Amino acid sequence: MKLQEEKVFKDPIHQYIYVQDRLIWDLINTKGFQRLRRIKQLGTSYYTFHGAEHSRFSHSLGVYEITRKIISLFERKQYKEWPKEERMLALVTALLHDIGHGPFSHSIEKVFQVNHEEWSKRIIIEDEDIRQLLIQVDGQFPQYVVDVLNKTYDTSIVIDLISSQLDADRMDYLLRDAYYTGVNYGTYDLERILRVLRPYQGKLVVKDSGMHSVEDYLMSRYQMYWQVYFHPVTRSSEIILRKIFARAKELYSNQFSFSMLFEPIKHLFEPGFDIQAYMVLDDPFIYTQFYFWTKEKDPILSDLTTRFLHRRLFQYIDFTPYEKEKLEEIKGFLQSNGIDPMYYLEVDSPSDLPYDIYRPGKEGRISPIYVLNQQGETIEISKQSEIIVSIMGRKKTDHKLFYPADILEEKSIASTFFALVKGK
Ligand code: NI
Repeated sequence: MKLQEEKVFKDPIHQYIYVQDRLIWDLINTKGFQRLRRIKQLGTSYYTFHGAEHSRFSHSLGVYEITRKIISLFERKQYKEWPKEERMLALVTALLHDIGHGPFSHSIEKVFQVNHEEWSKRIIIEDEDIRQLLIQVDGQFPQYVVDVLNKTYDTSIVIDLISSQLDADRMDYLLRDAYYTGVNYGTYDLERILRVLRPYQGKLVVKDSGMHSVEDYLMSRYQMYWQVYFHPVTRSSEIILRKIFARAKELYSNQFSFSMLFEPIKHLFEPGFDIQAYMVLDDPFIYTQFYFWTKEKDPILSDLTTRFLHRRLFQYIDFTPYEKEKLEEIKGFLQSNGIDPMYYLEVDSPSDLPYDIYRPGKEGRISPIYVLNQQGETIEISKQSEIIVSIMGRKKTDHKLFYPADILEEKSIASTFFALVKGK
């Protein structure tokens, strides 16, 4: 059902975001979706790039808008290969694809072994508000949305739109994150890419004249990973965040008596975490809990939360993680100086693959990007582009050791520490 009057959101990336369907409007107004306003898109990146305070809400609307634009171009150009009946499913999945994100999601996920994709699926199926809206379309509709997210839905072009190497999700977050962090390198010509996308033989392909914009897009992705997402200062704040939860979890399992432990956080430490408790959690909630934890009797929990709130982060240095003995030696050294290495030392090694094609024997469905030429043939993009060949399949990893420089200074053990790290 269409809205009587189109709704419009002003947006710095897409200028305007248009909502024409009642269902989309109602989903935006659910508690579960409004909660995304209180979750920062880039977690702790604002400690590195102070502008990066944008929310999952704005990103989700952006992914919806890109999907809407692609579909309306397909409809306007009357491409026969676009399955018209999938419009609403594609729009809804675009809108809800990140509904399961928790506060500082990626960092928390590692401690609690939850992942936002699983939560997105659970919320779509179990949250009463959202489910009630979706079953108005079709009793099976919530399941179809989950199938698209699982990449098991029958019509693969819908999956390509939401989750592939050239999807609406990435197209939005690269531009949005570049804009809010204020960096220059994340940009590429979105309008151009949208104009050259085609539904073709069940896939989403790019007309060959648009290949250079796709090269730009992939390079921008490469740059954003290394300059923004994997910035060592951001990693340092994430490490502290993880250590806080790891410490709290350990204290909780040792029956530590917290002077303040909010109920939904307690659920995090227990198995069978339920969706109501999960959906209460957002960034402000966690900050409030941290404020109380700065006053706890446990010196580690209190120090780590103070560090986090006041941005007293760990310093970092390049480190080869394969030197296991050396690492043990460093840990022993900290331990003997009254510093618990479990909470004050970390080797972190993020890695990224900018573009790849499926290779036999490897897991996962990586659909490559196809270019459509004048003869109507589709060619995997790295066969056409020198630039893409140069970044394809190259997994880059950055190993760093994170440590509390201030404590080492205080205890006058910094020089011995560095001598150990450098192996002298
Ligand atoms: Ni997303």
